[in-house]
Amino acid sequence: MVRKQIVSNTTENISAQPRLHQRAREIQSYGTVSHMLPLELEEPVRLEMTEQLNQLLADTMTLRDLYKKSHWQVAGPTFYQLHLLYDKHHDEQVELVDSIAERIQLLGGVSLAMAADVAETTEIERPPRGREEVPVQLSRLLDAHQIIIRQVRTLARRASELGDDGTNDLIVSEVLRTNELQAWFLSEHLVNVPLVEAKEPSITTGAA
Ligand SMILES: [Fe+2]
Repeated sequence: MVRKQIVSNTTENISAQPRLHQRAREIQSYGTVSHMLPLELEEPVRLEMTEQLNQLLADTMTLRDLYKKSHWQVAGPTFYQLHLLYDKHHDEQVELVDSIAERIQLLGGVSLAMAADVAETTEIERPPRGREEVPVQLSRLLDAHQIIIRQVRTLARRASELGDDGTNDLIVSEVLRTNELQAWFLSEHLVNVPLVEAKEPSITTGAA
């Protein structure tokens, strides 16, 4: 009887029919870490690091999307340069998202991935669906960078205390440095300098 069952299953397995609409239990729950990893990092350390990295991931994914929104919706005389700059920063944030998510998986955790979960987790203020003027776009982006930079500094120190040098290195060398540089590029656009004519002519120039 048993043998007959096996033969019948084998026949089913070699069918060319795709098995659609399948669902099953999760193989690992969110908020847990796998037990057996040869990383020489204790489970509580990996739990704490993956939890904080998931917060950073949610905020980085939100900043990434805020850049794309700004890239599409920008208007005004600086359209061309900002359209390009926003997209460059977006692409750099895409790289960071992947590095952070894969660090979480590498530590045995589960990365956030879907927009709804990111929206519930992020600390970055939700912008309206409509278009906003350039100074507001820039301010929103800078506020988001500030939240991330603050978080990253705290996380870097904690990772170092717990002996998680890999996380410390990733978030200082990649995440912190990229965010600092992008924040500089944005903030220079909010310096109110004249575009064509100097406001006050120099007193010394041309004095006889
Ligand atoms: Fe584009």
